[in-house]
Amino acid sequence: MSAEQKMSAEPATRSEVFGQLRKELYGEEHSSGSDTHIFIILGASGDLAKKKIYPTLWWLFRDGLLPGDTYFVGFARSDLTVEDIKAACLPHMKVSDEESESLAAFFRKNSYLRGTYDDVSSFARLNAHLSSLPGGEDAKRLFYLALPPTVYHHVSTNIRAKCMSSRGWNRIIVEKPFGRDLQSSHELSAHLSSMFKEDQLYRIDHYLGKEMVQNLMVLRFGNRIFGPIWNRTSVAAVVLTFKEPFGTQGRGGYFDDFGIIRDVMQNHLLQMLCLVAMEKPTSTSPDDVRDEKVKVLKCIAPVAASDVVLGQYVGDPKGEGQSRLGYLDDPTVPKGSCTPTFASAVLYIRNERWDGVPFILRCGKALNERKAEVRLQFTDVPGQIFADRCQRNELVMRVQPDEAIYLKMLTKRPGVYFSPEETELDLTYKSRYKNVKLPDAYERLILDVFCGNQMHFVRSDELREAWRIFTPLLHQIEAEKKKPIPYVYGSRGPEAADELMKNVGFRYEGTYKWVKPHM
Ligand code: BG6
Repeated sequence: MSAEQKMSAEPATRSEVFGQLRKELYGEEHSSGSDTHIFIILGASGDLAKKKIYPTLWWLFRDGLLPGDTYFVGFARSDLTVEDIKAACLPHMKVSDEESESLAAFFRKNSYLRGTYDDVSSFARLNAHLSSLPGGEDAKRLFYLALPPTVYHHVSTNIRAKCMSSRGWNRIIVEKPFGRDLQSSHELSAHLSSMFKEDQLYRIDHYLGKEMVQNLMVLRFGNRIFGPIWNRTSVAAVVLTFKEPFGTQGRGGYFDDFGIIRDVMQNHLLQMLCLVAMEKPTSTSPDDVRDEKVKVLKCIAPVAASDVVLGQYVGDPKGEGQSRLGYLDDPTVPKGSCTPTFASAVLYIRNERWDGVPFILRCGKALNERKAEVRLQFTDVPGQIFADRCQRNELVMRVQPDEAIYLKMLTKRPGVYFSPEETELDLTYKSRYKNVKLPDAYERLILDVFCGNQMHFVRSDELREAWRIFTPLLHQIEAEKKKPIPYVYGSRGPEAADELMKNVGFRYEGTYKWVKPHM
């Protein structure tokens, strides 16, 4: 049975499935000692914990993917009970009627402790609590920092001082923002690395947990056909897209401090770029893979403002509900804010494979659709014999929604004709893998932390390079306070972004139509 089938199959015993899956996916984990694990959620009362972390832990528990003796401990400032946490998380947990027993078992493994992040005695109490759990003294501990960056410093110091297991391993999971620029990120990295070793730190970029993002490596290095054309000779442009059809809607206060470049481009899109552009790693070991990603980043110069288009959405007077409201109408956004909610940027990788090929990164909120994809547009066919009626081939990996890989190509128009016509080789996952349940990105990533596999996590040197590329641009934007180009809620974004793509060589014909296959 493949690992994929196993993800969707009924679990046998919990530890059996976990053990098999772990062996298949990651090889034997060479660890000794207790098999008790404690997953500690710091910031248990927050949005991330409620919407993502607790539901993910529940799904992994329900599907038998966690070690049998796993305990979950919430920690936050609020005076809460496990019942309160359950009530807050339930709407996000998708529990069916048949699962109520299992859900009760999950919450029996949960406990909660109130404490203060900068108070070392709170962490001494947390440690006493962790040790008091069955097998707790010897347990392996996973600390998830679901917290605002303002308290990272205190929390990591206090974990290091008071909560480390002396017999089992300790792993720390951190979420972006990893600083605001090269300097602040460096300070945070220096602090964390003074407390923990790099192999204890799991920096999450949840795009690295998505099926199609992980698929990039297999597609590129598991097939003969793509290798010879994956370079500047055959690729005219690469486009990496992230679009969301909704605005900040009350989250504007947080967003405004960061903007779309820090929120999406510097991390999610740049990570995808690395996987598209890197050389073949010597092996699939996490450090071999990450070494190659770092090499790609080192070949990218800081983005120039002249290669960037910034936008900010305004309300659509003809729209309904939220779409009538622009970014500046969000009451949590400071008046007159110049923060971009849309950005398009062109990056060049100065190496032998990619020199001169534009990598176009586009991302935005309040656009016309929800979509994340990687698109390679190939160069024209040299020596055309079909009277210029051949559009360029494109290979598209659709990350979401509806995972798919498709290749836009030309065939003879079927029938009595002899003219070329655009069509596609289509691998839509829903039709090809009908019974496979694709796990959520967080499920895979949290499972990876249990298994000790850092391949899909960001290493500190990767992070440093990513900030090096974007920091000068971010500082310039903030110093100049230039108004971004307004675009209407629900549109494709500023027209200038399409112009930018065209100017660097991406060709949009507007002729291709995807036809739903006949059932
Ligand atoms: C987060 C951003 O990292 O990714 C959000 O902070 C964004 O602004 C989200 O909405 C998108 O994630 P997904 O998985 O829904 O595409």
